[in-house]
Amino acid sequence: MGGRNKVSIIGAGNVGATTAQRIMERSLADVVLFDIIEGAPQGKALDISEAAPISNSDISITGTNNYDETADSDIIVITAGLARKPGMSRRDLLEKNVRIVKDVTEEVIKRSQNSILIIVTNPMDLMTYLSWTVSGFSKQLVMGMGGALDSARFRFFISQELKVSVENIQAFVLGGHGDLMVPLARFSTVAGVPVTEIMEKSQIERIIDRTKFGGGEIVELLKTGSAYVAPAAAITEMVEAILLDKKKIIPSAVYLEGEYGIKDLFVGVPVKLGRRGVEEIVEINLSNEEKGEFYKSVDRVRSGVEEIKQILGQK
Ligand code: NAI
Ligand code: 2OP
Repeated sequence: MGGRNKVSIIGAGNVGATTAQRIMERSLADVVLFDIIEGAPQGKALDISEAAPISNSDISITGTNNYDETADSDIIVITAGLARKPGMSRRDLLEKNVRIVKDVTEEVIKRSQNSILIIVTNPMDLMTYLSWTVSGFSKQLVMGMGGALDSARFRFFISQELKVSVENIQAFVLGGHGDLMVPLARFSTVAGVPVTEIMEKSQIERIIDRTKFGGGEIVELLKTGSAYVAPAAAITEMVEAILLDKKKIIPSAVYLEGEYGIKDLFVGVPVKLGRRGVEEIVEINLSNEEKGEFYKSVDRVRSGVEEIKQILGQK
């Protein structure tokens, strides 16, 4: 290993390849892009490498079908999975992705015992629980990406509504990465002022709804796939916070052991990310209404975990 950090991305599809591109553009780490499809990761890695001179980036990007290339990674990002196809039930998809994420986790941890795992494959909160269980890693080293994306969407929609620079807007979203997620208007600010003081209730509700269904809105437009540019940007934000030890607070799906009154579940909450992974879980006081919504989202994640345990024959 040279002096540079190493990030392996499993699944060289839309999200995986776009994340590799973004990491290259920011010269954050050498990247290994793995996929089971022969030629695809190699072709995408070469294409991204050929853009590197224009981005003044000297990092190396390797495309491969061989897990050995992922050895000694600092971070492993798991985006491998299948999308739902016509005639396939949600349960069929869940079973397939459970198999994929389980296999991928087993392969990567054999070769990178000290890495940090960022899980992206949907249903992300459940896949993060699965990957953590399979890895046996400490809870600080395993996290799911969802809140970073959902918060970016929320910020964008607020900026559009108020015609204010996105730089002025802080916002965050709690809960599972699904349509029960909880965008928190009370803690979302424009140049420090809570949006609840600037915007009408109906305006806020509209934006919250759009954020909750943000993933679906893109699928409806694209028709053949789901969002990948904003997801890749969100993954890269997490990668950067970790590799540069920024101690940046980013909502992420992390293992809770009593925080927010929740036990034995991965759910999105604000966390401090740094070189040691999840360095702190930030607890904020929620109103009763916010708590009610949060727990609805948490219940959905909990029943999904039960389903995964059934699939794995643990129950
Ligand atoms: P995609 O279909 O473009 O790419 C998935 C890739 O995984 C394909 O290249 C496929 O060959 C590969 N793959 C399948 N089985 C594999 C295995 N066993 N080992 C290695 N690679 C394997 O899909 P896309 O758009 O890149 O999305 C990937 C996943 O990320 C999906 O599950 C999607 O729902 C999820 N996603 C999650 C987001 C989040 O916020 N958590 C945001 C966006 C996407
Ligand atoms: C999204 O939110 C599909 O989870 C993905 O766009």
